[in-house]
Amino acid sequence: MKQELLIERARAVLPAGGLGNLDPGIVIQRGEGARVWDEDGNEYIDYLLGSGPMFLGHGHAEVVEAVQEQIGQGTTFFASNARAIELAEAITEAVACAEQVRYVSTGTEADMYAMRLARAFTGRDKIVKFEGGYHGMSSDAQMSLAPAELANFPVAVPDSAGIPDPVRQDMLIAPYNDPDFARSLIAEHAADIAGIIVEPLQRIIPPQPGFLETLREECSRHGIPLIFDEVVTGFRFAYGGAQEAYGVVPDICTLGKIIGGGFPLAAVAASAEIMAHFDKEKAGGKGFLMQVGTLSGNPVAAVAGLKTLEVLRRPGAYQKVRAIGEELMQGIGEALSKAGHAHRVIGHPTMFEAVFTDRDVVNYRDVLQCDSKKAAAFHDLLRQGGIFKAPGKTYVSLALTERDVAETLEVFKKAAEQLA
Ligand SMILES: Cc1ncc(COP(=O)(O)O)c(C=O)c1O
Repeated sequence: MKQELLIERARAVLPAGGLGNLDPGIVIQRGEGARVWDEDGNEYIDYLLGSGPMFLGHGHAEVVEAVQEQIGQGTTFFASNARAIELAEAITEAVACAEQVRYVSTGTEADMYAMRLARAFTGRDKIVKFEGGYHGMSSDAQMSLAPAELANFPVAVPDSAGIPDPVRQDMLIAPYNDPDFARSLIAEHAADIAGIIVEPLQRIIPPQPGFLETLREECSRHGIPLIFDEVVTGFRFAYGGAQEAYGVVPDICTLGKIIGGGFPLAAVAASAEIMAHFDKEKAGGKGFLMQVGTLSGNPVAAVAGLKTLEVLRRPGAYQKVRAIGEELMQGIGEALSKAGHAHRVIGHPTMFEAVFTDRDVVNYRDVLQCDSKKAAAFHDLLRQGGIFKAPGKTYVSLALTERDVAETLEVFKKAAEQLA
């Protein structure tokens, strides 16, 4: 078996035998539309979407054509280029908080710079982050990402080796979806808080009515920049992202995944006033936030992003993807109910998950109460049935056909019946 040999070779040259992303027990050979194939030729319906970027599906003909044309003209210049400028224009037109855009290559970098930008803007040090919230891999972001041992709020728990202890001191951890806690934490520490970073929908947990609004109000009251991490939600929940979908506009947002159309590109976006810290002349010596990146704003990623956004602007695109997602969420819920499994299907039609619990899930600690062993067994059954997804999240693409949806629901139904 070709795949087994590759997995064995990977064990020698890649730590933990893989890329550090997904389980290394599958080696993907190619993708087309809503499907991917592994190295043994097994076919899967793809609900991973490369961890989100491939919202249009794999190998979208118009994106491929635009990218191929660009590749013939050069792949990266480190210099300003028309495609990067056009993409920044498209982003600022779409995203309410964005007057200017600074490109980076990954969501990790975008979030790291967004927090630094808030610190530069306010001259304060502390960042409020929510337990279980994912903002990439920087030292700040690794605080209380997925803590196994729970601390008393707002104490931060590092989730990675190699992080100097003082980093903890500048992170304040709060429970997601708890407006009262957020309000009192902000009131107590306002003079030291540089920014509040939040996934508008944390992992798969939707914001409860009033939660994001409270953060917005409190941030405005105390002059604290509110940062929405829209690496996942940007151009996915709506063309204008979660800030459009939920009607709450942050001061700073980060974008990634969809804006690069499957190539490395991410961004920090905010008002011209805040973004002035990236401009040495405007910010002055001490206020200047230095930011450089070899591949940031490369024209291949920019054209892929531009073409992706063009497709998404077409009438009916978001209605279609949401309708597919709603059908899947409902069908999966029905399959699990029928088979007698206590569960919740939570998230957003473009990105959701079925979790095994008989309680509502509103924060990270509720997620810990879910039956993770059952979820893992369900995930294995789905994989065997030809569903490719990450444990914990199901990404929906525009490439899914009626046949894909029907097949998917059949697999979920069977898996639900087989699940102990
Ligand atoms: C909400 C969120 N922020 C940041 C990131 C980090 O992005 P990247 O993997 O491009 O560094 C991710 C990645 O999945 C994410 O989901």
